[in-house]
Amino acid sequence: MAIYVTGDTHGINAHGPFSFDGYLRRFSTTSFPEQDEMTKEDYVIICGDFGGVWSTNRSRAEEPSSEKAGLNWLEQRPFTTLFVPGNHENYDRLTGCRNQRLMDSWFYAEMPCEEKKKLSQGYPRNVWHGGHVRTLRPSVMMLERGDIFYIDGKTCFAFGGARSHDIQDGILDPADYPDEETFNKVYRARCSEMIRIRGISWWDAEMPSSEEMEYGRRNITSFMEKHGQIDFIFTHEAPASDKLFLGYSDKDELSRYLESLQNSMNYGKWFYGHLHDNRRVFNHYLLYEQIVRIC
Ligand SMILES: [Fe+2]
Repeated sequence: MAIYVTGDTHGINAHGPFSFDGYLRRFSTTSFPEQDEMTKEDYVIICGDFGGVWSTNRSRAEEPSSEKAGLNWLEQRPFTTLFVPGNHENYDRLTGCRNQRLMDSWFYAEMPCEEKKKLSQGYPRNVWHGGHVRTLRPSVMMLERGDIFYIDGKTCFAFGGARSHDIQDGILDPADYPDEETFNKVYRARCSEMIRIRGISWWDAEMPSSEEMEYGRRNITSFMEKHGQIDFIFTHEAPASDKLFLGYSDKDELSRYLESLQNSMNYGKWFYGHLHDNRRVFNHYLLYEQIVRIC
């Protein structure tokens, strides 16, 4: 049995405005030939920006056909795919839409009540290997924030999420406009700016809530009291000191939270994505397109 880790995959393939990588290529037998020897008891963990659940369908909660085919392809791989969520994920579809204002607006006017109910629930939430997952397929799962999982004999803490850095000019909220025509007029006037649209290309849940942060801290504290050390940490965002070392601002709330966790625990190795590079900072690993075996 083995665990492999990689960085952001950004969706199914390299097409589309928000996808320039794609897991079809990353996990093809050409770029990942190790899979020939793998079984479903072997794991590949993506450190956020999985992107396989991305499109917004405003009339149905079901997967669009391209995403369905992509997830089925992943399910057919001879390994189990796990991911922590990043900032570029459709959280409304993954973990359930909590934005009642958007659900009640013109944006979802075409969606029947039954479908809205499904959208509000996201993928099934299950307990798996000691923590909570969202099950996209039997062997394609999202690791929820703040849980500790027992994977392949290793203890693993997962805490996905990050603040998008491509929203300098703001977020457009469809629910702020009376109808689609008015919204489109505003969007067309601003589409050259660095903006994203709530519910289409940006979701509030990219950043963890204070409850999720507290939940993660509690779990780590009690695990440290009982066991003294955890093997692996999987996040999308990097701890603040790594950001600074790698030349990024360390002012982000989540980076600082991760830094404070780092200072309160003993751990083996820490893996994260988000910064789109492959670098090592002591026992921390920033991963992008590399796929590395860690045990
Ligand atoms: Fe990314």
